[in-house]
Order: sequence, then C-alpha cells, then structure tokens
Amino acid sequence: MTVPLRPRRSALYMPGSNARALEKARTLDVDCLLLDLEDAVAPDAKDLARKQIVEAVTAGGYGDREVVIRINGLDTPWGETDLQAAVTAAPDAILVPKVNSPADLQRIAHTLSLHNAPESLKLWAMMETPEAMLNAGAIGACGKDPEVRLSCFVMGTNDLAKETRARLLPGRAAMMPWLMTCVAAARLGGIDILDGVYNAFQDEVGFAAECAQGADMGMDGKTLIHPKQIAACHGAFSPSAEEIEWARKINAAFDLPENASKGAIQVDGKMVERLHAEMGKRVIAIANAVAARTANDNERQS
Ligand code: COA
Ligand code: MG
Repeated sequence: MTVPLRPRRSALYMPGSNARALEKARTLDVDCLLLDLEDAVAPDAKDLARKQIVEAVTAGGYGDREVVIRINGLDTPWGETDLQAAVTAAPDAILVPKVNSPADLQRIAHTLSLHNAPESLKLWAMMETPEAMLNAGAIGACGKDPEVRLSCFVMGTNDLAKETRARLLPGRAAMMPWLMTCVAAARLGGIDILDGVYNAFQDEVGFAAECAQGADMGMDGKTLIHPKQIAACHGAFSPSAEEIEWARKINAAFDLPENASKGAIQVDGKMVERLHAEMGKRVIAIANAVAARTANDNERQS
C-alpha cells in the first residue's frame, strides 16, 4: 500500500467558546479535533468562539492532530463569516453542518477556490438530515470529484434523531439503516466516515459497546464529546494484535512462490482469498500509521 493513511479513530468536539478546551486540545492524545462554531455554541457566543478558534488554529501547536473547524450553515446569520474566518485560519478541513445534497458542498468548494484556498484544505460533511439520508449516495460520490474536496462523513446522530423523531436507544436499531447507508455511500466516494457521539459520557460500559458496534459496522472512528472517551475509542478503532498478526500471516502466505498463481488458499483451516490479503494490507497500514503517531507523541513528551 502506497497511500499514507491518516488514522481517524477519534474526533473530539469542543465548543469554540471554551478557551480552556481549545488550549487543552494541544495535549490530548486524539486523532482529530472538531472546533465547533455551530450547535455547541450559543448565538450570543458565536463571535467570541470564531475569534478564539481563528487565534488558536493560527497559533498552531496541534502536532499530528487533524484540525477541523465546524462552521454554521450558510443559511444562518453566521455561516458566511465563519467560512471566511475558517479560510483565514487554514485548518486541515472545514466541517459543513446539515449537508442535504451535493450542491451544498459544491457551493462551499466553489467559495474556497475563489479564495485560492490550498488543495490541502478539505471539506467534511455532517450527515444528519432526512434529506442527506435519502441523498447519501450522491453526496458520497462527491468524494470522487477533487474539486469538491470531500474527505470525510461525520454522522450527526443527535440531529438525525431530532429531525426524524427516531429514538437513540442502546443498540441503535432505528438508526442502523441510515448509518449503514452512509457507510456504503462513504466507500462509494472513497472517503472516511466517523460515527456519531455518545451523549452519556459517564457511562463507560455503554460507550464501549457503541464503539465496538461502530467498528463492526465499518466506521473509521467515532466522534467524541469528552476527553475521557478517547482511550476506549482508540481501543475499539485500532487494529488489535491478533488482527495485525493474521494480516501479516495471510500476506506472507500469498507471497510464497507456490501460491503465486492461486486466488484462494488455506491458512489455519480457513479459506483465504486475495481480497482478504488486500484487507490485511489496510489493517497493517493503519497499524503502522497509529504506531507512527504514538512514536511522535512519545518523542514530544520525552
Ligand atoms: N474538549 C476538550 N476539553 C474538554 C472537553 C472537550 N470536549 N470536555 C471537557 N473538557 C475538559 C474540561 O475543560 C475540564 O478541563 P480541566 O479539568 O483541565 O479544567 C476537563 O475536561 C473535565 O471536564 P468536566 O468537568 O468533566 O466536564 P464539563 O462539565 O466541564 O463539560 C461538557 C461537559 C459536555 C459540557 C463538555 O464536555 C463539552 O462541551 N463537550 C463538547 C460538546 C460539544 O462540542 N458538542 C457538539 C457536538 S455533539
Ligand atoms: Mg448538529
């Protein structure tokens, strides 16, 4: 595998109005930071939050962490100003709330190119409206159009529950069709997808179960609301030692000269196809990327 993978196991939201959280983020072992101007910020704190986020991102010091600014929708009084401010701050990505259709992303991408924003500035899309669930395939397909810059889906399960009136219960049975549709849509576009938040951040058992469920569903990681959720989240979304060993074993088996022209072989009593070896290569690439991140963190702390 040649494409370097960026682990997106964890993405911690923090209100832009909370200066302490923005500062604390520089020391947290988290893959992505979602600096919020939208739902977590009250209307009368929007200007302060915008100013604080621009200052914090411009000052930097976030290391390997992917820095993402969530703006308000362009149909709100703050959206346009947020977008301009985000371009000035130059984070890794802008998270667009309440995306309903490809046009919502194309419009913002167009503004970015008018401002000569570097190609490295990506768009992430909140998937959280009934329209988005019904247009998921078309939105995901934007991942294939470099002009749209789409790089990641973020499930907004709280908004989705509000808009659809579906209940967010343990096991998430009512949400499952939408979550899996969005996983398929993300893969169609070749982008990542992050699971929704778990509101009861004191409930470690329930949180661990939901992380495991998200990993089983194919989510790349989970959005978080509190630093205490990070470690368990990484546990669920990092490849396990067994998965890494199995991935290495099946790739080594296919590399043997006697298997050079075979499509399916037997390893430890299981049928293994070349597609499994490909999946294994991805596991190894993610494990390597996680190990590189951890090594960098250790270096900084020593
Ligand atoms: N990011 C960074 N730091 C955070 C944090 C976050 N999301 N949530 C809490 N912290 C910090 C606090 O600042 C505090 O730091 P300190 O002890 O060094 O001062 C520490 O973690 C403990 O916080 P705690 O007292 O347990 O929580 P709280 O009552 O201050 O905050 C929430 C609880 C839910 C309000 C807060 O976690 C939060 O705002 N989460 C994000 C909400 C959000 O962005 N939602 C939008 C998307 S769903
Ligand atoms: Mg929301």
